[in-house]
Amino acid sequence: MSQMSRWIAAAMVLAAVAPAAADEAVRFDENETAMILRHGPWPQPPVRDPSNRVSGNPAAIALGRALFFERRLSPGGVVSCAHCHAASRSWTDARAQAAGIGELVRNTPSLWNVGRNRWFGWDGGSDSLWSFAIRPILHPAEMGADAGHVALSLRADRQLACLYEGAFGLPGNRSPANDERVLVNAAKALAAYVETFVSGRTPFDDFRDALERGDAASAARYPLEAQRGLKIFAGRGNCAMCHFGPNFSNGEFHDTGIPFFVKGGVDPGRHAGIQRLGADRFNLLGNYNDDRSGDSATKTRHVDAQHRNFGEFKTPSLRNVELSAPYMHNGRFATLREVVLHYSEIRADRLHSDGEALLKPLKLSPREADDLVAFLRSLTDPQAEQTALALSGIPNRCAGSTSR
Ligand code: HEC
Ligand code: HEC
Repeated sequence: MSQMSRWIAAAMVLAAVAPAAADEAVRFDENETAMILRHGPWPQPPVRDPSNRVSGNPAAIALGRALFFERRLSPGGVVSCAHCHAASRSWTDARAQAAGIGELVRNTPSLWNVGRNRWFGWDGGSDSLWSFAIRPILHPAEMGADAGHVALSLRADRQLACLYEGAFGLPGNRSPANDERVLVNAAKALAAYVETFVSGRTPFDDFRDALERGDAASAARYPLEAQRGLKIFAGRGNCAMCHFGPNFSNGEFHDTGIPFFVKGGVDPGRHAGIQRLGADRFNLLGNYNDDRSGDSATKTRHVDAQHRNFGEFKTPSLRNVELSAPYMHNGRFATLREVVLHYSEIRADRLHSDGEALLKPLKLSPREADDLVAFLRSLTDPQAEQTALALSGIPNRCAGSTSR
């Protein structure tokens, strides 16, 4: 049986054995069913980044974990990655716009499943997780460090020096070239650690798998309001066209009608992201890409800023979205309900890009808005907080430290 006919068969089984309260049961048509099944299975096989030779390497992950919580990486000794990406807050800061040493104009995204991205940052200004990680370290409003400071911190602390050596060997004598290599390696270790932020299964995943198996009894455990919300999401809402696939993101950039005026100007989004990417000497076209085949750099070679990219931002994943308020690239909406109402009342004439015919005002009734919110909440992994705390709680003991 082809994949498609299996889906159709599964949908028919569900329709046939749907619960007695037939007027309440939610029926998914063929297209909706196919769309829903594409949101899984979950979890997906682990990500390995060919451009980062320590991706998946336990020694690098241990160093990355130590660095992620290390405030001394910033010269004032106050701002670590975790300052904005807190484990207890689903790797965010609960602020509309982030603040480190100074104030930023963008919202801190959650880092769950971030390794599955193709581009990094709301504007996709980085083409790898590790090259993105260099950005907050050097950004004057985030951690405000430079390569020399990072290399010095890594050499000065016995624990960090030992962890570094375990992952990369000795850092070599101090020189601008060696310091820069240490910075890049630190970023690769951070990336290896952040790749382990994989969220667990959700009520939605159980429903999706039941649908695939044609198991109506298990499927019926998924709350009806979430089912109705899912029907809007995968059907007339078109949400799944952009929030696509197992991680609920197509990895692309869109204008969803969020105003891009910021303090002192505009946020050009993807347009500036592509320019930043081209100018970044840590991009995948540069010397620090560990992928000898060169395949990973193809996307970077071919990307080109177009006028329509102005004001476009990356489609975020929706796994655990309930836990990372406020929402959108500028933190404009405090609740999921506000996001849903935005899509419900969207002004199509304000969307300047040609590709956004997908978005039209949905004119949801209050119950439909509640249903869509209930569906979004069903994307929450009930173990997320424990998992995040477990990922952050392991003591940074370096095996070699006693012999140093
Ligand atoms: C001052 C707050 C702050 C600090 C400190 C910070 N971040 Fe972030 N992080 C953000 C913001 C804001 C964004 C969105 C940036 C953008 O799009 O311009 C972001 C984005 C990211 C992304 C991209 C996520 C995606 O979906 O594309 C990654 C990965 C990341 N940060 C990792 C780190 C690491 C690793 C560190 C430490 C080296 C760090 N961050 C330090 C606020 C912070
Ligand atoms: C045309 C592509 C597209 C469609 C269709 C779409 N989205 Fe989005 N979604 C995006 C983009 C892009 C963003 C980020 C926009 C920004 O920050 O400026 C976003 C943001 C969100 C967020 C906030 C996530 C966060 O972490 O900040 C939620 C929730 C959301 N969308 C849900 C939905 C729902 C529900 C629908 C259907 C009614 C939908 N989306 C339809 C592209 C889309």
